Amino acid sequence: MRIVFGISGGIAAYKIPQVIRRLVQRGHEVEVVMTQAATQIVSPFLLQTLSKKPVWVKDFDVRRPLAHIELGDWCDVMVVAPATANTVAKFAGGLADNLLTATFLACDKRKVIFPAMNVKMYENPLTRRNIEILRSVGCEVYEPEVGELACGYKGRGRLPDEEVILGVVDRDPLKPLEGLRVVVTTGATIEPVDPVRYLSNFSSGKMGIALAKRLYALGAEVLLVAGKTDMPLPAYIPSQQVRTTEDMLLTLQQVMARYDVLLMAAAPADFRVSRLSEEKIKRSGTLSLDLVANPDILATLHQNYPTKRLIGFSLEMKGGEAYAKEKMVKKGLDAIVLNMVSPDFHPMGSDENEVTIYTASGEEWRLARLPKHLVAEKVIAYLFLGERE
Ligand code: CTP
Repeated sequence: MRIVFGISGGIAAYKIPQVIRRLVQRGHEVEVVMTQAATQIVSPFLLQTLSKKPVWVKDFDVRRPLAHIELGDWCDVMVVAPATANTVAKFAGGLADNLLTATFLACDKRKVIFPAMNVKMYENPLTRRNIEILRSVGCEVYEPEVGELACGYKGRGRLPDEEVILGVVDRDPLKPLEGLRVVVTTGATIEPVDPVRYLSNFSSGKMGIALAKRLYALGAEVLLVAGKTDMPLPAYIPSQQVRTTEDMLLTLQQVMARYDVLLMAAAPADFRVSRLSEEKIKRSGTLSLDLVANPDILATLHQNYPTKRLIGFSLEMKGGEAYAKEKMVKKGLDAIVLNMVSPDFHPMGSDENEVTIYTASGEEWRLARLPKHLVAEKVIAYLFLGERE
């Protein structure tokens, strides 16, 4: 992808060299445009080295007199991070008083803006209004995060982490899955036993998060419904956190009306205690817990939403293929993605996975062992783009 990366003069600009480095590593071409103020914070020399291209700062640069027009024509996406209050205001007012603002005005491609500033500047109604103006003309403006700010204040104003910027920028400009609305569940649900203990499983959430990121990258509208995960949820994908299997079912019952597909990659805890202890259970001798089975989320959703596309995931040991196919039928699924636990490989918590997809129409597709983000790419391509290789 061709990216024009605009940097204005906020302290958060110090985070940008790493973002640019990773974009280039991912195979993107990046042209950097900076304001004069940004050069006080991060060196054009460094950015030039990382982007492997000249960095553009000055208007009327004899090396490229029409840079502001050419860059907008050349790129697939223009990103501005950090966008200061001043630069946001100039964008909203249609000013073209430096190379960055002129390039922005001349660019009619996808535009993604990450404001970052002091919380009072961000919450000032003037800045809020400017952001609304930019959104109303089709710019994607991402909310800064809440946290400790360089100015010493705490509040909303922080530039999101590089993962978030990369996730948003990396979106396929053709958006082949635009219009598809998908809920992805991930992680393990937990069932409390007493105020300090719970029952759960080893699911890390990595596979579901990878699937959600891939769907988002291809332009789908994604909601992550997450139990306990070992890694943070991507901040650019809307998410709802749940605790128990019943919570997950309740949440899905509510949200599925607005979505077309459910990818059920979560590992719901299958049992809960029949009676929750209000007191911390004391350690003594032996302990017996009376457990009851939790509801089957997929089967229940199939009853309530018979026309929605439901995809299950199944972790099996010996005889896995037969069990997976049986579950597909029993739970009313369109497809099931089977991963096997073997003596030498356990997918839960691993960065890799090895899956076979079975579809209700009788297709079967086996994938070699791959990192989970590549498994996600292939599974999504198979299920939603009709790819068979
Ligand atoms: N699943 C579900 N509700 C549950 C448990 C599992 O919807 N209470 C979903 C999982 O998210 C997964 C699929 O069903 O997509 C298969 O999960 P698995 O644990 O293999 O199936 P179970 O029905 O729990 O069967 P088993 O007795 O083998 O654990």
